Amino acid sequence: MKLTQADFQERRDRLAEQMGPNSIAIISTSPEVMRNRDADYKFRTDSSFFYLTGFAEPQAVAVIETDETGEEYIYSLFCRERNREMEIWNGYRAGIDGAVDDYEADEAYAIDLLDEEIIAKILNKEKLFYRIGQRSDFDAKVSTWITKANESGRGFGVPSQLIQLDQILDEMRLHKSDQEIELMQIASNISADAHTRAMQKVHPDMMEYALEAELNYIFGQSGCVPAYNSIVGGGKNGCILHYVENNQPLKDGDLVLIDAAAEYECYASDITRTFPVNGKFSPEQKALYQIILDAQIAAIDAIQIGHSYKEPHNVAVRIMVEGLVNLGIMQGDVDKIIESERYRQFYMHGTGHWLGMDVHDVGAYKDENGQWRSYEQGMVVTVEPGLYIAPDDETVDAKWRGIGIRIEDDVVATEQGPLVLTKNVVKSIEDIEALMAKSV
Ligand code: GLY
Ligand code: MN
Ligand code: MN
Repeated sequence: MKLTQADFQERRDRLAEQMGPNSIAIISTSPEVMRNRDADYKFRTDSSFFYLTGFAEPQAVAVIETDETGEEYIYSLFCRERNREMEIWNGYRAGIDGAVDDYEADEAYAIDLLDEEIIAKILNKEKLFYRIGQRSDFDAKVSTWITKANESGRGFGVPSQLIQLDQILDEMRLHKSDQEIELMQIASNISADAHTRAMQKVHPDMMEYALEAELNYIFGQSGCVPAYNSIVGGGKNGCILHYVENNQPLKDGDLVLIDAAAEYECYASDITRTFPVNGKFSPEQKALYQIILDAQIAAIDAIQIGHSYKEPHNVAVRIMVEGLVNLGIMQGDVDKIIESERYRQFYMHGTGHWLGMDVHDVGAYKDENGQWRSYEQGMVVTVEPGLYIAPDDETVDAKWRGIGIRIEDDVVATEQGPLVLTKNVVKSIEDIEALMAKSV
């Protein structure tokens, strides 16, 4: 499934409506980034730019200009011109005709003409919307354009307001449409298959990177790239939250923590599973795992329309603290441990984040009064509690040290309750052990 030009146009319509009359919005895609001499990182379009245009080529700028009534607008796309020689080296370009015919721009220009053409477009607009502070080079460009427009208008006709475009776009992107949820479901299904394959393929003495390759096999077979750098951490490496070296052998008796997922059509999934390298949880691993799983299931259930964003976190923390006290890993009163945040010794991150085109997606977490906002239809959030007992933590019995566990699923808030996009990969102790027993 892919979004159509009608979907992108509907988004532009909604943006233009919110801009009001006599306004201009200017939005650029991401810069190309070099990896080292003559070799660049594979280009990834800017999420907000793509959200409005569906145009994935580098070196592109979209402009939306509303008229004096605010009823109509013009959509212009500045992009690379077709160039036979460059296309032989670097691939196909839509060009000016393609921008109009295939991407439904009302006007299209060579990107090289941007500095020249944009002045006339800025002149006589009241409001200029752009992504203030997103990139200093673009901030500098806008500033230059305003200066030039000021000169050419002799002080007249320059926008009197500069407005943060991200405020509108982020809020639009935060609420996912049915089609967006469908794309995220596909990304999640592919990611779930990758985790299932990892559980089936893992064995003692395998290298972490070899297990990562099993995930990449599924991503690649599905035409996807990883949505972020995959974390494959065996044993104590599971206690490093953003472990990406993935270069150690997986040991018999250890757990392996995998936080990895695919990006499909610019939409991300985000899954973590933790499972035993040899297929069987030890008693200590089982005890800790079950606490986190109970916390995670209860936290997912707290994602109800109208509930505070923080509720899943609060629910998860309480269950995990109770569990840690029951196991003797923490001592003291549960309420006091929560209040003082002493649990951060073992749980030092939040329980989730918005998910969408970016893995840590855009969207405000608090309202204008500084209060946590509530879940609304179509918001997608991760639920990812974990416990990490540092290998050198002498405040706990040695048998617990070096165990790191996280369980992460992706959840849509809906009127019918939480919709778990990532349910295709098992997570109960019995189901994981059964799957792994079948695979060896
Ligand atoms: N994979 C990044 C995260 O879970 O936030
Ligand atoms: Mn996450
Ligand atoms: Mn993750």
